Formats: sequence, C-alpha cells, structure tokens
Amino acid sequence: MCFPKMGGGVLRVSIWVLLLLNLACCSRGFDPVDKYYINCGSPNDVVVGNITFAADKSASRFLSAPLEILASSNSSSITPSDESEVYRTARIFTGPSKYTLSIGQTGRHWIRLHFYPFVFQNYDMKSASFSVFSQSTTLLSDFTPQNSSSVREYSVTVTAGDLVITFSPSSNSFAYINALEVVSVPDTLIADDASTYDPLGPFKGLMGQSMETVWRLNMGGPFISLANDTLGRTWISDSGFLLQPNLATFATGVAHYLEGGATPDTAPPMVYGTCRKMDSAANPNSNFNVTWGFKVDPGFQYLIRLHFCDIASASANQLVFNVYIDSFLVAPDLELSAKYPGQLAAPYFLDFVTPLIDRNNLSLSIGPSPRSAYPDALLNGLEVMKMNNTKNSLAGGAAALPGFPAKKKNLGLIIGVCIGVVAALILLGVLFFIHRRKKQERLRIEKSWVPISVNGGNSHTMGSKYSTGTTVSVGSNMSYRIPFLSVQEATNNFDESGVIGVGGFGKVYKGVLTDGLKIAVKRGNPRSQQGLAEFRTEIEMLSQFRHRHLVSLIGYCDEKNEMILVYEYMENGTVKSHLYGSDLPSLGWKERLDICIGAARGLHYLHTGDSKAVIHRDVKSANILLDENLMAKVADFGLSKTGPELDQTHVSTAVKGSFGYLDPEYFRRQQLTEKSDVYSFGVVLFEVLCARPVIDPSLPREMVNLAEWAMKWQKKGQLDQIIDPNLVGKIKPDSLRKFGETAEKCLADYGVDRPSMGDVLWNLEYALQLQEAVVRNDPDENSSNVIGQLSPRVGEFGNGNDNGGESESGDSVARFESVDDLSGVSMSRVFSQLVKSEGR
Ligand SMILES: *[C@@H]1O[C@H](CO)[C@@H](O)[C@H](O)[C@H]1NC(C)=O
Ligand SMILES: *[C@@H]1O[C@H](CO)[C@@H](O)[C@H](O)[C@H]1NC(C)=O
Ligand SMILES: *[C@@H]1O[C@H](CO)[C@@H](O)[C@H](O)[C@H]1NC(C)=O
Ligand SMILES: *[C@@H]1O[C@H](CO)[C@@H](O)[C@H](O)[C@H]1NC(C)=O
Ligand SMILES: *[C@@H]1O[C@H](CO)[C@@H](O)[C@H](O)[C@H]1NC(C)=O
Ligand SMILES: *[C@@H]1O[C@H](CO)[C@@H](O)[C@H](O)[C@H]1NC(C)=O
Ligand SMILES: *[C@@H]1O[C@H](CO)[C@@H](O)[C@H](O)[C@H]1NC(C)=O
Repeated sequence: MCFPKMGGGVLRVSIWVLLLLNLACCSRGFDPVDKYYINCGSPNDVVVGNITFAADKSASRFLSAPLEILASSNSSSITPSDESEVYRTARIFTGPSKYTLSIGQTGRHWIRLHFYPFVFQNYDMKSASFSVFSQSTTLLSDFTPQNSSSVREYSVTVTAGDLVITFSPSSNSFAYINALEVVSVPDTLIADDASTYDPLGPFKGLMGQSMETVWRLNMGGPFISLANDTLGRTWISDSGFLLQPNLATFATGVAHYLEGGATPDTAPPMVYGTCRKMDSAANPNSNFNVTWGFKVDPGFQYLIRLHFCDIASASANQLVFNVYIDSFLVAPDLELSAKYPGQLAAPYFLDFVTPLIDRNNLSLSIGPSPRSAYPDALLNGLEVMKMNNTKNSLAGGAAALPGFPAKKKNLGLIIGVCIGVVAALILLGVLFFIHRRKKQERLRIEKSWVPISVNGGNSHTMGSKYSTGTTVSVGSNMSYRIPFLSVQEATNNFDESGVIGVGGFGKVYKGVLTDGLKIAVKRGNPRSQQGLAEFRTEIEMLSQFRHRHLVSLIGYCDEKNEMILVYEYMENGTVKSHLYGSDLPSLGWKERLDICIGAARGLHYLHTGDSKAVIHRDVKSANILLDENLMAKVADFGLSKTGPELDQTHVSTAVKGSFGYLDPEYFRRQQLTEKSDVYSFGVVLFEVLCARPVIDPSLPREMVNLAEWAMKWQKKGQLDQIIDPNLVGKIKPDSLRKFGETAEKCLADYGVDRPSMGDVLWNLEYALQLQEAVVRNDPDENSSNVIGQLSPRVGEFGNGNDNGGESESGDSVARFESVDDLSGVSMSRVFSQLVKSEGR
C-alpha cells in the first residue's frame, strides 16, 4: 500500500483571497506564552510567515551538547518553500544532548522538529540515526529522517518545571535538527475527553497523553502553510488520500464562526471554507461512501478530529449523513445544522478516540444516511493524532532515555575540544584571508562587481562562485556592474560561434566567467543611444526582483555605450524547444505539469509579489526557460509593466505581445490587467498539452489557431482527441480534465471571468496530484484511468510543423529578459525594442 507521506517538503502555497478576507475579520490571534523558534545551526534569524526562527547562537544557553557542530549547506537543491532558509542549516549532535526550555505556563505544548538532511563535512545526514525524547516520552526511536524535508509535530503536556528535549544518537551514528519549535497550545484546543467507539462512554484523560500529529488535512482545498494558520500549523490537501477520487468532488464557501463553536484557532477559515463531498451529480446511483485511507503505525490508539462546516448545502437542515472510522459507524445520522438550528456554514468539530489499531492503515468514510432526503455528505478537515502507548512512547519501539554523565567529568574534555576547535578555526580564518587576498589580486579586474544570487534569493548558494568570494545580503546597496573586459573574456570577445540567439536588439551569447559559471549575455546594439536612463532603471528594478521561477540577472555592463545584460544560463533552453520543432526527447506529463506549475509560480509572484503587480505581457512557451533540472523560469520581461493603475495614465500603450497568445480583450479595450497574462498562460497550457505551434498557417483553417482549436475540443469534452501523441495513454483522465478546465478558464473572453494566477497554480497542482494519486484496491480502475483511445486526427500534428507563424531565433537559451518595473517608471523602451519580437 502506498500512501503519500506527510512532510514539509510538499509545501504548496496558494491564494484564496475571499477566505482570507474572512480571516481578517475573525482572527483574534492566540498569543502563546511559551514560544521558542530556533533556527538550529544558523547565525541568522529567518522569518517564515509571521514567525521568526531565531539564530541558534542564543540557543546554547538552553542546550547541553558534547560538541558544538553547526552545519550549513550551500546546495541549491533545497526544496523551494517558505521554510527552505530554515533548512539550510542544522545542528549536529555526536552524543546525548538536551535542550532545557523553561516553561512559563503549564499545559499542552507543541514540539515541532524540522529535519532536512544534507551533507556537511563527513556527516551525511541521510544516514543519521537517533532517538528523541520529551521528558520521558519517546518521540522518535532509532529514527532516520527521509530524503526530503520532514516536520514532526508532537504535543505534550508540561505539568511543572522545564521542558527537556533530548537527542540521543544511535550507536556509531549522530543526531541532527534543522529547526525546533516549542509553543504553547491554547488550553481549549484539546479537551480532556473525546467520544470513543466504546459504549462505556467518552475517553477520559486526553490531557495526560502525549500525541503526534500524523496527518492534518484540508479536505477539498489547497495546502495551507504555517503562515496562514494562526497557530502555525500546516494542512495538506486530501486528494492523495482519497481511495476513489471519482466519487468525490469539492465545494468552497465562507465559514461563519459562531459563539460556542469552533474558532479560527481550531482550524483556519481556509479549512472550513473548503470541503470534500460526495459527487452525487456525477454518480447517479448515490449509494456510496467517500473514503480516505491513511498509513498509520500499528499498536497505538489515535485521536481523530473531524472538522465540519456546511458550506455546500443550499438550505439548512438538508444534510444528514453517516461517518465511519474503519468500518465503525462513529457518527450516525449526523446533522450539521442541528447544533445551530437554521444556521448554515457554522464550523464545528468532533473528536474520536480509536481502539488500539492493529493494522498499518486506517480508513475514514462519509456516506448517506437512510434518514437524509438527499444523499450527500461532506468533510472539511481532518486531524489524525497518534497517542502514546503504555510504554510512554510514540515511536514504534521505545528507546532508553540516555543517562547524562555528571557535567564535571566532561568539562575538561569539552574545554580541550573547544580550544582545539577555536585554534583550528583561527588557523582556517588566517588561511582563508590569505587565499582571499590572493584571489582578489588575481581578479582585480572583476573587483567592481558584486555577486548576487542566481537562484532566486538563495544567496548562500552562489557566494563562493563569484569574484570576491563573499555572499552579499539582498537589499543592501549592491552593484551588479560587470566590467566590459570580463564580459569580453567570458564570451571570447563576442565570438560568433557563441551566439545562441539573435533578435532585433542584437545578439545573445553563451559565456563562461573565469570561475566557471555559465552565463547568457544579451548585448544591445552599441549604437543605439536611446533610453539609457530606462536601461538603468531596469537594472535597478531587476536587481530587487528575484524569484526561483524567474530567470535571474547576474549583472550588467554599461561601459562605452554598451548595454549588456548578463543572466544565468539556462541549460535546457525554452519550453517551446522541448515541445516541437527540435529533436529533443519528448517530455512526460508529470514533467510538463511541473514546468507549468513552476512558470505559474513565477507569474503569480509577478502579479502578487512585492509591492506592486507586474504584468509580464509576453507570456509564451519561448519565454519560459528550463534549467539543468528542467525547472521552469519565466524570462523576458522586456514588455512588462506595473499595472493596472499605471496603464490608466498610459492609455495609449500600444498593444504588444505575441501573436497567438494575445488576450483578445486587451486587444479590444487596450486595457492591461494581469488577466492578459492569464490568457496567454492558458494558451501555453494548451501548447504544452498538444505540442504544436500556437499559430500554424500550414494547417486547415479551423486548426490554425491553437487557442480556438483546443477550446473547441475542450468544450466538447474531447480534449483527449488532440493531445500530443506522445502523451496518449499516459494522462489520467481526471488530471487531463482538470488541466483542460484550467486552460479553458484562462481563455475566458472577459478578464473578470478568468482565474487569478494563484487559482491557476492551485488547479495545476491539483491536476498533478490527480495524476499522481495512487490507485488502490481497484484493479478495474487502471483501465479507466488512462486515456486509451487515440484518434487518427492526433497524428496530424507531427514534429514537422514547427515554426508556423513564429521565428525560432534566440530561443535556445536564456534569451533575454529585460526588466521589470516596480516603481511605475515606464519600461525601458530600449529593451522593449531589444526584445526579439516574435510575430509582433
Ligand atoms: C498566506 O499568507 C501569506 C502571508 O501571510 C499571504 O500573503 C497569502 O495571501 C496567504 N495565502 C492565503 C491562501 O491566504
Ligand atoms: C559549498 O560549495 C563548495 C563548492 O562550491 C564546496 O567546496 C563546499 O564543500 C560546499 N560547502 C558545503 C557546506 O556544502
Ligand atoms: C532516498 O534516496 C535513496 C537514494 O538516493 C533511495 O534509494 C531511497 O529510496 C530514498 N528513500 C525515500 C524514502 O525516498
Ligand atoms: C500575521 O501578522 C499580521 C500582522 O501582525 C496579522 O494581521 C495576521 O493576522 C497574522 N497572520 C497570522 C496567520 O497570524
Ligand atoms: C459505507 O461504509 C460502511 C463501513 O465500511 C459500510 O458499512 C456501509 O455499508 C457503506 N455504505 C455504502 C452506501 O456503501
Ligand atoms: C489495510 O490493511 C489490511 C491488513 O494489512 C489489508 O488487508 C487492507 O487491504 C488494507 N486496506 C487498505 C485500504 O489499504
Ligand atoms: C501515556 O503516557 C502516560 C505517562 O506519561 C501514561 O500515564 C498513559 O497511561 C500513557 N497512555 C497510554 C494509553 O498508555
């Protein structure tokens, strides 16, 4: 049985603006008395959402450990997420070590352990094995964190004194931790009693139980990050847990918190505002259950909290249904509006404690009750919490709490080691300084420019690669200027053989800096004098403007009337080149979805990030580039604008963009909004699915324009007829349906009807989950789950039909991105011209 694992690695962010408004009005905000957020092993504070993970240096007063080992990673493969900065560092423990945290208020506390393994010196964290204890409760026993990030959340009751968390390496191994949170839980969150299956009555004594949150799900909704939960919890989407996704659908609405019921602290509005429900419409015989399956450890009891809020019914008193845990009917004839007669959408929750579970799975079902007039059932959120066993353990086996040798004995050793370490550090420092001086001499020529991150804010990553060898913090007054000589050298004096793109503006060269970093150099025509000021503005703007899904600026050069921009080199060229018109191997469906999701992230950031919305205005597959890992980055901001308010003052803005991608509404009304990008992105989605040019004049008339052609098939519900032949049989119908619907919505005639980029992003994530959802227990489903039939029509879009209305020049690389404008200053016309116009 293969169930997805919970983990911080699956961080997905999405925007749910409506619900957020509601949050603003209801969130009272619990202020925990005890709050420790420690960014272990790091000298820096990191802010994630509203939470500041404090630098580790001050943690040493809580900590007793045999050795001080602070590990840091400069790998760029850290999972992209809000929390990734927290995961760049870790503290390593070579022997039993403990944090002793003083507690201001007794009661339940959360302990969150963040693990993200990487290699530091000769510590390969993937091989670490260790146990963790809270007081005398075993939290983890001989545990080896998985390959990607994982967050373990526990809650324990502290009755007096300090909270002691102990890390104890298994023999011949070591322990580590990337971040540690200890936070008070509101007293009202978990009561002392809960319903049980037991006819003898409710379970008493939850207070004394230690628990581990095994699953916390937002039914029918997106991932919710700790930044969007008043108590810093994360909620993952339930779609991967549905046993028969085709029986379920989802609904969204607005929850109205009422006195005496759940509060935003119980679960945020984003949880109560979405639900998973029976898809009675699509399954006319409505006598079925919607069931979720979860992987659990046998040998424990579980506290199960079900969150309900009827946001789906048209009127109150309509919804009556049954809830089963495994096959036990735990809530017969549950009537959601019974608690608040006449009220719809009032959130509340129910707790259940299971008997000892003896299998490694647990299922939860909702289904119609014979009492209901109309068969329906829904669930908004779910928490599954493992309870400690009689050995006071939450781990499979209870490990022995290590004894600590009396401090004195070790003191001499520790001091000795410390002196040794300090001496070694000083020596290293001196060596480094000498080395650096030498290097600076050697690289004097490059001295005038300072590196920035190439990887969207991961400034750690690149520091050492650049001339000065220092890492520069973002936001300070930094210079991106690169001496002309360096550019000349990098491109072998603009050697023609290094040209990877040509456009109206000039050429794009591939280059290599002296330290081996590959770059793409866009050189404007030196004779062009116009717009130097705008060129400069652009650079200033772009330097503040970084995201892992936007191609990064490395520097620029304006010596001798040159207008040169230097970008990170994108190994895999444009998305377009991977779709058609080249010999590159065809991409799989998951890869394509990942690419679309990446590009959507980049655009979403442009539209919502920083202070002002930025409209790209030239979204197309040739402007989405792929790095060596096929990670998508949006490029070419030459036409971008802040908008829409800016545009009202610039009414005369000529319609710009690329043929085949252009928003018809923008064309008609000449008014620019983010929704024009959404339209173009919709075209890209169809292009990715069908792998043909968006305009192909060589085809029969009705097929020339991809957007029209694909919409025709989408509206008929037969999009599968025109997909890329390479994908036939490989897309699950649900995934294709979601994808098709998303693209269709993007192409709505009126901007107001189109989704925001955030919605598009979420829908694509959802399509990906539908594709990856593991089919369980149902061999029949396999056949229906993959598109079987292929119409001969599909064959008409072969690889030979490339280049329809577009020229390919300059597409094979980090083609130009010029810049964006965040301040409202108009974009550099220079670089607008520089931008190669495809079909413009
Ligand atoms: C999540 O929180 C962030 C910052 O707190 C906010 O910008 C974003 O809009 C929120 N997302 C949702 C879906 O509410
Ligand atoms: C950082 O990267 C450099 C090479 O770029 C490597 O030599 C060094 O070991 C890395 N440091 C860590 C902590 O991974
Ligand atoms: C971790 O990575 C190794 C190799 O890199 C792989 O064999 C193993 O299956 C991975 N484990 C998980 C849990 O993903
Ligand atoms: C984050 O902080 C802001 C301002 O302090 C507050 O308005 C918002 O509600 C907080 N968000 C959460 C999820 O607590
Ligand atoms: C729903 O599941 C329960 C428990 O497995 C079962 O008893 C019941 O018959 C199911 N209902 C339907 C309509 O399948
Ligand atoms: C749960 O586990 C039992 C026994 O291990 C197995 O028979 C059953 O098929 C599993 N159910 C699911 C839904 O995986
Ligand atoms: C959990 O541990 C506590 C001691 O901390 C113990 O009193 C309690 O009985 C344990 N729970 C169970 C279900 O055994």
